[in-house]
Amino acid sequence: MSFKVHIVPASRTIEVPTGATILETALEAGVAYPHGCQSGNCGACKSHLVKGEVSMEGYSEFALSDEEKDRGLILACRAVPWEDSEVAWLEEDDLIIHPRRVLTCKVAGLDDATHDIRRVRLEIVAGGPFDFSAGQYASVTFDGCQPRDYSMANVPGDPMLEFHVRRTEGGTTSAYVAETLRVGNSVRVEGPFGTSYLRETHRGPIIAVAGGSGMAPLKSIVERALAKALPQHIYFYFGVRTERDLYLHDHFAALARKHENLHFTPVLSEAMGGTWRTGFVHEAVGQDFDEFDGCKAYLAGPPVMVEAATRLFEKRGMRRIDVHADAFYTAAEMASAGKKTGAEL
Ligand code: FES
Repeated sequence: MSFKVHIVPASRTIEVPTGATILETALEAGVAYPHGCQSGNCGACKSHLVKGEVSMEGYSEFALSDEEKDRGLILACRAVPWEDSEVAWLEEDDLIIHPRRVLTCKVAGLDDATHDIRRVRLEIVAGGPFDFSAGQYASVTFDGCQPRDYSMANVPGDPMLEFHVRRTEGGTTSAYVAETLRVGNSVRVEGPFGTSYLRETHRGPIIAVAGGSGMAPLKSIVERALAKALPQHIYFYFGVRTERDLYLHDHFAALARKHENLHFTPVLSEAMGGTWRTGFVHEAVGQDFDEFDGCKAYLAGPPVMVEAATRLFEKRGMRRIDVHADAFYTAAEMASAGKKTGAEL
């Protein structure tokens, strides 16, 4: 048995089998439905339920608030239809959908960014060109490993793809990257995915907040904004635990000296004294701004950081639609949420 679901922006009607979600069926049918985590955590697949009835279980309040649910919004990745329905994903003025590609790449560079983050540079051998928007991610498969999601740290158009892989406890893919991966190895890359990308037509201030290896998508976003000579102020905060977790801080400090609209602030949560700003990164942002009306925020890092920063922004006047967040869940967190493949970041 199945139900018909009409997807308004795509002008497509799909047959969703009993028990299946709208998003998984739409993606299988080749509909480029906006999505991110596929596990009810990021809000990227948020949609209007125009008509019909769906059930939803297992999602976070961060992805869909009760108030949004009461307004008829759903998460397509969690929505199981109970009758023929009609849905429409949220429109934005500059929603961009790039063609999905499957690339064969070769490892062209490997180095240690910190004690637990490896920087991997890949040359595209076949399947390109690879168009994406700054801030998006790809599904990356290293030899013999499960696919994992990693954000591109390079700007769109660079000949090399760059990923930052943080070693996680018990993470088999990150252990492979840390110990076994070699220059010259072949890597499969599929993407791009994700809706937390730079909105290049927006002209209000940008608040960019990265935690740990959340540096990767924010590096791409900030460098792209500078390359496009976007005129607004860009406030880039980078939160880590201790000094040994910092990386690329010299690079962004140098960029801030060169571009007067870029303001870069590293924040260390476990530092004792010294010259660094200390505390949680979202608290530092809160100390610097009384209100965020007209700003756009780009967030990437641990879920607890993303959720705390989102609450702060909303409390001080930022519209939810202006918060573009990429919460990095571990493979274990993804598996417990029922996602087939997961980030190991
Ligand atoms: S909440 Fe549905 S894709 Fe993330």
